[in-house]
Amino acid sequence: MVSTDFGFDECIERRGTSCYKWDYDSRITGHTGLLAFWVADMDFRTAPAILRRIGKRLEHGIFGYTGRPKSLDDALTGWLERRQGWKARKNEILEMPGIVQSIHMLIRELCEPGDGVVIQEPVYYPFREAVKGGARRLVVNELRRGKDGRWKMDLENLATQIAECGARLLLLCNPHNPVARVWEKEELLRLADICREAEITVISDEIHADLVFQKHQFVPWLSLPKESLPQSITLVSPTKAFNIPGLNIAFAVFSDQKLRRQVHGMLETYGISKGASAPLNYAAAEAAWRESEDWLDSMLAYVKENDDLVRSALASLLGPDSIAMLEGTYLEWICVAGSLKEEETVWNSLLDAGVWLSRGSQFGMTGTGFLRMNIACPRSRLEIGLDKICNVLRA
Ligand SMILES: Cc1ncc(COP(=O)(O)O)c(C=O)c1O
Repeated sequence: MVSTDFGFDECIERRGTSCYKWDYDSRITGHTGLLAFWVADMDFRTAPAILRRIGKRLEHGIFGYTGRPKSLDDALTGWLERRQGWKARKNEILEMPGIVQSIHMLIRELCEPGDGVVIQEPVYYPFREAVKGGARRLVVNELRRGKDGRWKMDLENLATQIAECGARLLLLCNPHNPVARVWEKEELLRLADICREAEITVISDEIHADLVFQKHQFVPWLSLPKESLPQSITLVSPTKAFNIPGLNIAFAVFSDQKLRRQVHGMLETYGISKGASAPLNYAAAEAAWRESEDWLDSMLAYVKENDDLVRSALASLLGPDSIAMLEGTYLEWICVAGSLKEEETVWNSLLDAGVWLSRGSQFGMTGTGFLRMNIACPRSRLEIGLDKICNVLRA
């Protein structure tokens, strides 16, 4: 029995808050009044402890320049150890701007124009934008989809590509958005071998680390044996798991002090080495990591039941292997078409029917024919959306 104490069934009106997910439909799609299953934030109110801490801070009424409290660093390292099972030392950590912004800056810092940066598509599309925007050479190592619908890294192809055209950096999405994979230790170890031998620095984006289901085990990149790792940076943040992405905050953990010093120097160059000076964001992050584990567990159980619902509604229409197993994230990855044209037709028909999902090809051409569906929403809203989706797929 899932606890309903946290009100996950409540349909909270988000329109009118200028949120991307609900307020931008006519601007982006030309349709109005859409049910939104696209952007990766949840339609759930965040954890009560987070609201309480922000409220307490608000009551104080003065929001002057603010350093990051030491207690927040303890909360972060405590969380990583307790929940994710790895030790990050406080002197290995830096506060960063949001994860996307950090990736943009790190690409510019760690490689020169023209250097190769590997991404594994289909992947969160800002990765591609960050590489292209920085005029670095995009090296795409496409993920492969097995017959059972499970996606894997193509490590042989990666090794060949690197041998042929070289690369300086690899952006790892761990767990992987989209395709909902939680990478296993063996896969990560093989990836680490390839990158270490080729002297490729790895940036592991672990924003989805705490969104992992049942038998799957999240393996933090920096928890791999030190001797197997290349130079590495892991990016962590509480914003995705606790649904506070508008309270931007992120941290980097480094494999070595030299790299940490280099990145600290980069932050100094941009005048941001002292952190965000964001008292409400600090309060929210600390409450997330210290006091909100029960909310997170209940939310995951609720989303898992949503996942069961999606599977039972769509499997008979599309076939059981059409929906990737939801190992992690709250983003279903659903095969609906065989070509770009068909994908576009299905997506447009869904908009006509009043539902808005993300197109697979947005995450790279390997994602062609898929839709990404955000299921972190109240059950009743999901049911209405699924009815509409099934009607379109049946037509
Ligand atoms: C893999 C991944 N990284 C980063 C982000 C966004 O991070 P931030 O809001 O800190 O820039 C997202 C948001 O969906 C994501 O899926």
